[in-house]
Amino acid sequence: MTDKIATLSIDGMDPIKLPIYEGTGGQDVIDVRQLVNSNLFTYDPGFVSTAACESKITYIDGNQGILLHRGYPIEQLAAESSYLETCYLLLYGELPTVEQLDKFTNSVRKKTLVKEQMIHFYNGFSRDAHPMAIMCGVVGALSAFYHDRIDISNEAHREEAAIGLIAKMPTLAAMCHKYSIGQPFIYPCNDLSYAENFLHMMFSTPCESTTVNPVLSNAMDKIFMLHADHEQNASTSTVRLAGSSGANPFACIASGIAALWGPAHGGANEAVLDMLSKIGNVNNIEQYICKAKDKHDPFRLMGFGHRVYKNFDPRAKVMRQTCDEVLNLLGIENDPLLQIAKRLEQIALEDNYFIDRQLYPNVDFYSGIILKAIGIPTSMFTVIFAMSRTIGWIAHWNEMHSEPYRIGRPRQLYTGKTRRDYPS
Ligand code: CMC
Repeated sequence: MTDKIATLSIDGMDPIKLPIYEGTGGQDVIDVRQLVNSNLFTYDPGFVSTAACESKITYIDGNQGILLHRGYPIEQLAAESSYLETCYLLLYGELPTVEQLDKFTNSVRKKTLVKEQMIHFYNGFSRDAHPMAIMCGVVGALSAFYHDRIDISNEAHREEAAIGLIAKMPTLAAMCHKYSIGQPFIYPCNDLSYAENFLHMMFSTPCESTTVNPVLSNAMDKIFMLHADHEQNASTSTVRLAGSSGANPFACIASGIAALWGPAHGGANEAVLDMLSKIGNVNNIEQYICKAKDKHDPFRLMGFGHRVYKNFDPRAKVMRQTCDEVLNLLGIENDPLLQIAKRLEQIALEDNYFIDRQLYPNVDFYSGIILKAIGIPTSMFTVIFAMSRTIGWIAHWNEMHSEPYRIGRPRQLYTGKTRRDYPS
């Protein structure tokens, strides 16, 4: 905090003095809370200039391409840590000791099963339902099983909800896939690591258990970790807003899943692959680049650009390297879609339109390519993002409930009809 003050001068009114706060990093913020007393609101559609909360979890410097979780750079976590250790860090604020990580991992392992009745929810969906639609439904449905038992003002109850969600999301996600292809659900195998277990539930059948290649499970673990949290993005802000009414945590996470689904957010990884298929051939790339630049054409290059990063997304750098490892291992560098992706990346990085607007490939550009190479269907890509981001959502939800908070209630600039009488 500082003693800096902003003074707002409005014709005919006394100047309004607004305190300015300084964080441990990033932009200073002007505290506008008292404006309502002068009958004024701030106006910021898209929340481009608005800090909606105070948080200690994740820091992003978009100009320099920096992402820190609890102070640790994402590149170091990706090189040294694991997804579950990063979950612990995000949730509790510090890296665990060996014993703490062991205990945490075991608590997650013990909770991987979902109630058998959940199967009935899946059976209610048509086989071709989008897995994100199913996820919104089944994660929301968890609140029916865990409602009366949860007191959100109790720290231990919040911790239990967080661990339950981290544990159950891979099971629910893999069930979506199995349901869509008409195969029996595969129960979790708690001897396996988090990532191995997910791939096992995705690809094993009751007749044949899949042996997971460690390069693929490591790549999967990195995908989980690189998507774990990203401060106040659309879905996390949705979870905070839903949570601010005191709603059940499982219902709040379902609201985050819904917000994530859109192609401007988590849906981009699926949209990247759809776009590559549509382009179809390296000779068509130029035509799509022209479409992306045309102001009258709604088409955008999926997997490029970011609201916050105006430099290379640090997650994309790690993802690009993992992508090369996976493609080398699988010997599929010549896959036609991957060829298009590589050429597109090269052209966009050299083209002035993208350079001037600082539109770099983002994390979803490469994650989609890796997931495709692992054999995961495109419709499951955003589900995997949702699984990974669950820790971020619940860590923010928990942070909000650890301090006094108010219900989130934005106001508006009203431009509709003024009062008029109903015709008699
Ligand atoms: N292709 C072509 N032009 C683009 C693109 C793109 N992907 N992204 C932005 N632009 C242009 C946009 O037309 C505008 O141009 P101008 O200044 O001439 O009007 C300029 O760049 C700024 O764009 P904006 O829409 O004001 O930027 P934003 O911060 O509101 O949107 C974004 C950010 C991520 C929604 C956008 O870049 C986009 O739609 N990208 C494609 C979807 C995508 O990959 N999303 C995943 C984001 S990363 C994962 C996550 O965190 O969810």
